[in-house]
Parts: sequence; structure tokens; C-alpha cells
Amino acid sequence: MNRFRRLRAHESIRRLVRETHLVKEQLIQPFFVREGTKKQEAIESMPGIYRYSTDQLLRAVESYQKAGGSAGLFFGVPDKKDNQGSGAYAATGIVQKAVKAIKKNFPKFLVITDICLCAYTDHGHCGIIADGAVDNDKTLPILGKVAVSHAAVGADIVAPSDMMDFRVSHIRQDLDKNNFQNIAILSYAVKYASAFYGPFREAAHSTPESGDRKSYQMDYANAREALKEARQDVAEGADMVMVKPALAYLDIIALLRRDLNVPLAAYSVSGEYAMIKVAAQKKWIDEKQIVLESLTAIKRAGADIIISYHAQDALRWMNDKR
Ligand code: PBG
Repeated sequence: MNRFRRLRAHESIRRLVRETHLVKEQLIQPFFVREGTKKQEAIESMPGIYRYSTDQLLRAVESYQKAGGSAGLFFGVPDKKDNQGSGAYAATGIVQKAVKAIKKNFPKFLVITDICLCAYTDHGHCGIIADGAVDNDKTLPILGKVAVSHAAVGADIVAPSDMMDFRVSHIRQDLDKNNFQNIAILSYAVKYASAFYGPFREAAHSTPESGDRKSYQMDYANAREALKEARQDVAEGADMVMVKPALAYLDIIALLRRDLNVPLAAYSVSGEYAMIKVAAQKKWIDEKQIVLESLTAIKRAGADIIISYHAQDALRWMNDKR
């Protein structure tokens, strides 16, 4: 029998035996970028998160770096959409312009780009529509082009989030063919069809015109299927895999951690952020404590890397003593 309280008696002893630590270099802040100049548009359901024009994005990245941030995940919000999502791979597309500017100004900042068509298609689905359905194999060449166009402007890592089968191997091949062997793939391998993405769709203007994403994103009732998805993505060449959302899926993170030996990321999504933010604004919860506790829980479950809209605040709070 033991007296467990001995190791909890005061903060310095608690620190000595603490098992899980947040690491600044493993936090990733998502950024939304749109056309134009001098724009910083608030996203109503995500207080504190903005859609920036590239000039303002540079300032946001600079301030994030000053806070200790070293990596960002970039989403484009284009003005024009079409049924092929061609804006997603245009050499002068919104993400391409933004990444070029970031790499010019902050060459060491780690740039990760989201690969998906939903913000670029007029129908809002993540793939090409053929015969009334999202067509997996017709979408693959387009995703490959998107990845190559991001690599061409300096992205370090591409992160496919569309959930088409075989997109990782397809993207890997297209990157290699174009001499981008060193660009890594962070696959959204385990992405559930989730109501937690609601605020993001407002942010990225990517709500599907009709239907939902259940024919390509995973059923949230399934855990074994997560293993199949993740193993296959690793076999296809993913350097890292992701679970998304995070907080309601800690069991899935833990499951993958035990099974895989690649770096594991978790994406704490827009709905998770919105719930904390709005309760904090009402002063019903202590935002700092809730955020640090939640991020630590995601880490404890087994994630190495955490993508979170709280990243910049968390970096600041991590400097404080608990
Ligand atoms: C694009 C994509 C989505 C998110 C990241 N990439 C939305 C979706 O699948 O509908 C969600 C991120 C968030 O909610 O923060 N497919």
C-alpha cells in the first residue's frame, strides 16, 4: 500500500513526476487566407480566428512566431469556385501566393498545406462529382496536382484531408515525379464525418451544397476501421498520420499510438475550439486551464503533434507556471 499524496504535495514535486509535457515545437496553428489586401475578417463562430489577406497573414505568422510558434497549417478561401476545384492547383491560387510570401519572409517557418477541394468546388464536396456521386478515382489526379502546386511554392509538408482512397500513394508518386521527394505527407488518415467541423465550414466557405460527407469521411462509431485506414496510408507512403477530431476521439489516438510507429498528429477542430471559446467568453470556464488540460489530454492519449486553434494562446500560457 502506498500514500500517493506524497508525490502530489507541492508543485515542484508534481513537476518532478509529471508524465506528459506539451512541447512548443509540436503545436501547429491553422491559418485561413483569402484574396485581397488589408483584410482581416472575423469568423463569427471562431472568436479570435480570422481570414487574412496575404499581407495581413504575414503579420499574423510573424506574431505567432514571436509567441514561440514554429509551424502553421494553411487553408485557402478562394473568391472563385468551379466544379473541378481548379483554383486549388492554380499556380497563382490563394494558398500558392500565400505560401510563397511566407517562405520569402520566414524561410524557417514550417509550412503545412491542407490538400482538399471542398473550398474550391462550387458544390462544396471534397472530390469531383460524376453521375451524382463523389468520384474517387477522378479526384486523385487533381489532388496530385494540388500537392505539386503547393510543393512548387515551398510548402514543407502536404496534408491531404479529402478522404479519397489511394490519395496518399497518388500524391507521393506525383511529388516524386516532379522532384519533390523531400516533401513529407501528413495524411488525415482517420477523419470522421463529424459535426465538430461546423464552424470551419463557415470559416472556409466549404459547406456542401447538398448531402453530407458520410460517403467518404468515416463513421464515428468505428474504431477498428481507423486501424485499417491508418495502416494503409502508412503503406501508401504517409510519413505521418492524423486523427481528427481530437477530444471526442482520444481512444482512437491511443489505439493508433499502440499500432503505428510513425509520428501521430491530432487535430482539435473548430467545434472543439468554439465550445471552449464561447463558454470562456461567458466566464463559465477558465479558458487557460481548460485549454492546457485539453491539449495535455490529447498528448497523453498518444499524439506527438497537435493542431489547435488555441496554439498561439497555449504557447503563451505554457510559459506560465500552472
Ligand atoms: C477540408 C477540411 C475540413 C477540416 C479540415 N480540412 C472540413 C471538412 O472536412 O468538412 C475541418 C477542420 C476544423 O473543423 O477545424 N476537408
